[in-house]
Amino acid sequence: ASKPVSLKVDEDDDALVASGKKKVTIFYGTQTGTAEGFAKALAEEIKARYEKAAVKAVDLDDYAVDDEEYEEKLKKETLAFFMVATYGDGEPTDNSARFYKWFTEGNERQSWLQRLTYGVFGLGNRQYEHFNKIAKVLDEKLSEQGAKRLIEVGLGDDDQCIEDDFTAWRELLWPELDQLLRDEDDENTASTPYTAAIPKYRVVIHDPSMMHIEDNHSNTENGNASLDIHHPCRVNVAVQRELHKPESDRSCIHLEFDITGTSITYETGDHVGVYADNSIETIEEAARLLGQPLDLLFSIHTDNEDGMPSGSSLPPPFSSPCTLKTALARYADLLNPPRKAALVALAAHATEPSEAERLRFLSSPQGKDEYSQWVVGSQRSLLEVMAQFPSAKPPIGVFFAAIAPRLQPRYYSISSSPRFVSGRIHVTCALVYGPTPTRRIHRGVCSTWMKNAVSLEKSSDCSGAPIFIRQSNFKLPADPSIPIIMVGPGTGLAPFRGFLQERVVLNEDGAELGPSLLFFGCRNRKMDFIYEDELNNLVEQGALSELIVALSREGPQKEYVQHKMMDKAAHIWSLISKGGYLYVCGDAKGMARDVHRTLHTIVQEQVLIIV
Ligand code: 2AM
Repeated sequence: ASKPVSLKVDEDDDALVASGKKKVTIFYGTQTGTAEGFAKALAEEIKARYEKAAVKAVDLDDYAVDDEEYEEKLKKETLAFFMVATYGDGEPTDNSARFYKWFTEGNERQSWLQRLTYGVFGLGNRQYEHFNKIAKVLDEKLSEQGAKRLIEVGLGDDDQCIEDDFTAWRELLWPELDQLLRDEDDENTASTPYTAAIPKYRVVIHDPSMMHIEDNHSNTENGNASLDIHHPCRVNVAVQRELHKPESDRSCIHLEFDITGTSITYETGDHVGVYADNSIETIEEAARLLGQPLDLLFSIHTDNEDGMPSGSSLPPPFSSPCTLKTALARYADLLNPPRKAALVALAAHATEPSEAERLRFLSSPQGKDEYSQWVVGSQRSLLEVMAQFPSAKPPIGVFFAAIAPRLQPRYYSISSSPRFVSGRIHVTCALVYGPTPTRRIHRGVCSTWMKNAVSLEKSSDCSGAPIFIRQSNFKLPADPSIPIIMVGPGTGLAPFRGFLQERVVLNEDGAELGPSLLFFGCRNRKMDFIYEDELNNLVEQGALSELIVALSREGPQKEYVQHKMMDKAAHIWSLISKGGYLYVCGDAKGMARDVHRTLHTIVQEQVLIIV
C-alpha cells in the first residue's frame, strides 16, 4: 500500500457522505484465504441487501502504511467488521500482524473509537489451545477503546463446519444491520431472501498453437521482491532419500532443497513453505470429471468483457495463460472435502435434476447432518464428490472461482541449520498415506510429491518446487550455555536436528555449551529410528549431552517419550529450575498434550520433594 492509494480512499469517503451513502468497511486477516473469502462474501451480501451501503473488503495490511495512519483512518470509520483468523500458537495471520501489534499494544488511547460500531468474526480451530484468541482480544479491545459492539463476537471453528458458523453469525447480524442501513422506504425489501451469486472468472480459450505463451515462471518470482507466500522462489531438489529402514511399512523422506544462487535465507528453527503439484493421477481424474482435455490452453480474467469487475468475492486469479494440466497441478485443492458453497456451484451446473437436488440438499441447513457425515466424516474429496454427480460438469471459470479452493503451500520445520549446511534447506517429511472411510487411499499432496521427487543427485532433470521461508519463534536460547530439553518423537525431531547442527558449529567456534537432552520416540529401532547414526554422532561430538529413545512397539508395553521423561524427572526439574528451555515438537493433539500433562506432574512432584 502507498500513501496515494489511501488518499484516494479519503476522497472517496467525502463523496460517499455527500451522496447519502453509508460507508461499511470489512477488514480481513487471512492466512489461507478463508477469512478473505468470508469478508468478500459478506461485502457482496451487504451490498445486495442495502442500497445505501458503500462496502469495501480491505486487507488489514493494505489499509495503512504505518501506525499513525491506522489511527487516523480508523478514527474516521463508523461501521466496520473484522474477519480475523487465529493462527498457530494464538498468533495473528501474517497480513494482520502489524495491525494487531499496534492495536493491542498501544494503551494510552482511551475511548478514541467512539464513532465506530463494529462486529468481529473469528476463524479458528478448537483443537488448539488459543481458540480464536485474535478475534476475542480484538473484540474486547475495540470495546474498551470506546467502539460500540453491534453483535457478539462470532467464533468460527474449523474443526467442525466453519461455513455454518459464519452463516449463523450472519443471521444474527441482519436484524442489527437492518436498523442501521435500511431506509424507511426500503420496507418491502426486508423479506426478500438473499441468494449469493456464484462467482466465476471470465475464461478465454486460446489456440493450442500458442502453447509457447504458457507462463512457466508463474509462482516463481525472484528478482528484488521479498520472498513470501505470494512470492515464492523455485528451487531444485538436490537430495532425496528414504529415512525408514526396509522393514518399515511406512515412509519418511529426507529432502534437501538447493538454495544456492537464490536470495533465500533462513534461521535455524524457521519453517519452509512448499508449493507441491498434485500428482498426475489426481490431475487426470480432475480433467476427466470436468470433461476437458489436459492441454486446453486458457486464461482467466476477473473482469467482464466490458471491463467491469465480475464480482468482488473472487479469489485473486492465478497466472495465465496456462494449460488445464498446469492449473490443476498447481492451483486446485482437489483432495479435501468440498465446502458447501462448492456444492451449491456444482448443483447449478448439474444437468441431471436429481443430482442437482441432492447437491442442494447437502448444502442446505436441512442437510447439515448429512453433509457432516457423507462429506466431512467420510473424508470425501472434491473429486470423489464430483464422481458421484457426473452430470455436474462446471465450466472452468466456475470451477476455479467457486468449487476448487486454491491449493495451499505445506509448511515444514526446517531440519537443518544454515550455519552447518550452507546453500541447503533440509526437510524431514512423513508420507501421508492411508485409507479413508470410503476405502479411497488418501495420499497427502506434498508428502507424495516429496516421496516421488527426483533429486539432482540422480538426474539433471530433477524435481523442483516454489518455496518460501516463514520465520518462527522456535529458536535456541541466545545464550548457548542455557540448558535445553527437546522432546520430538517421529518427525517432531526435525527442528531439533537443526538445533543440534547449530550447536556443532557453536561448539567449533568455542562457545560454552550448556547441557542438552533429546527425547526421541519411534516404533521400532529396526524400522523408523530416523537419523540414528547422526544422532549418535552428535552425542560423540558433544552437541547433544544425552539421547533418550522411547520405543513404542518393541517391548511388551508402549513406551512413549513422556514415560522416559518421568524416569528423568529430577534431572529435568534441575535443568528447568536453572532457567533451562523445554521444547516440544510433533503431534499437537495427542503427544504434545500428554507431554504437557507429564510436565505438570513432574513439576508438582519435584517441587514437593524439594520443599
Ligand atoms: P505408536 O505409533 O506406537 O502409538 C512417533 O510417531 C512415535 O510417537 C511412535 O512411537 C508413536 O507410537 C508415538 N506416539 C503416539 N501417540 C503418542 C502420544 N500420545 N504420546 C507420545 N508418543 C506417542
